[in-house]
Amino acid sequence: MEISHAEGSYIYDTNNKAYLDFVAGVSACSLGHRHPKVVDAIKTQLDKYLHVMVYGEYVQQPAVELTKLLAKHLPEPLETTYLTNSGTEAIEGSIKLAKRVTGRSQIISAHNAYHGNTLGAMSVMGYNERKQPFLPLIPDVKFIAFNNAEDLKKITTKTAAVILETIQGGAGFIEPSDNYLHKVQKRCNEVGALFILDEIQPGIGRTGKLFGFEHYNCQPDIIVTGKGLGGGLPIGAFTASKAMMDTLKDNPKLGHITTFGGHPVIAAGALATLTEITSTSLMSETIEKEKLVRKHLKHPLITDIRGKGLMLAALTPSAEITNEVILKAQDEGLILFWLLFETKAIRITPPLTISNEDILKGCKIIVDILNKIQESQK
Ligand SMILES: Cc1ncc(COP(=O)(O)O)c(C=O)c1O
Repeated sequence: MEISHAEGSYIYDTNNKAYLDFVAGVSACSLGHRHPKVVDAIKTQLDKYLHVMVYGEYVQQPAVELTKLLAKHLPEPLETTYLTNSGTEAIEGSIKLAKRVTGRSQIISAHNAYHGNTLGAMSVMGYNERKQPFLPLIPDVKFIAFNNAEDLKKITTKTAAVILETIQGGAGFIEPSDNYLHKVQKRCNEVGALFILDEIQPGIGRTGKLFGFEHYNCQPDIIVTGKGLGGGLPIGAFTASKAMMDTLKDNPKLGHITTFGGHPVIAAGALATLTEITSTSLMSETIEKEKLVRKHLKHPLITDIRGKGLMLAALTPSAEITNEVILKAQDEGLILFWLLFETKAIRITPPLTISNEDILKGCKIIVDILNKIQESQK
């Protein structure tokens, strides 16, 4: 499929065939494709300046406004944000920050976690098959089972940080249950470890709240965002208290260095995206749209629908059925996708701006395909 252009909830190929997008660039295009306010903000910035200087030497309005707006919507003391080029780089920054603040080295992550694909981020990935060819990775990383309260004993005074996805993405859109994240936070507080939440996928409105953790009675010490924050441009961000972030300033000077982090054009696009999401009814509509998907995706071959808001995964009885649905859907003009580790899951993460009609249209395509598969099994 060769892309010609994309607009709203649709991607067009070079034959001008329209595809309804139920993936949104893997949860990145929250406002759909080429949202006019995002495109305007980018164009306006293009006419002013592009890259001028790094490392915070110069005050650049788009990055300043973006980080201020993030702080406005985060609870205290989460007020200082470092902007990066990708979610993965922000994860790297968050781990470095935790080591710097605590003076400890041990990082605890969860089985089946995905936090990115550089060597540091891969070290906290809870999936051996994908790590094996790249060993050794960074040392002193331990794993716990997500949602397992017993395992929290493994968090000790040796632990610099516990890093978790608020909703486990690659694992199959697994939500925290039984007040789990609150318990993690409590245990971290007891032993002086930092609590890092990876909100790269659930964050920025996708679950119906600006940050996924708002659903789960907890607050991280460091929050990592990305994907949907950029409105279709590459971005990552890690946010902590000013006191914590200040530890990255000296010894060594500039504890994290990046040439393009906070790039004015990207920050302008992200600012327009965040402004739109926080100043409209999009987030409450997202909760209603989740209900619509759940209502119209009822089928005997759908065994479960996991996730929250428009971060949803429909599970089928087998990886084969899931593959068939995803591949046939593309022929029918609907973009679906897989999750990294859960082979039975169909990713449903459309733009938050998708219309109700398009939700019904996409669900019908999936149900029709499942009906045909069911027929063929008889
Ligand atoms: C939960 C999570 N963390 C980190 C990342 C890495 O972000 P990026 O691909 O922007 O580097 C992703 C990307 O899929 C993700 O879903």
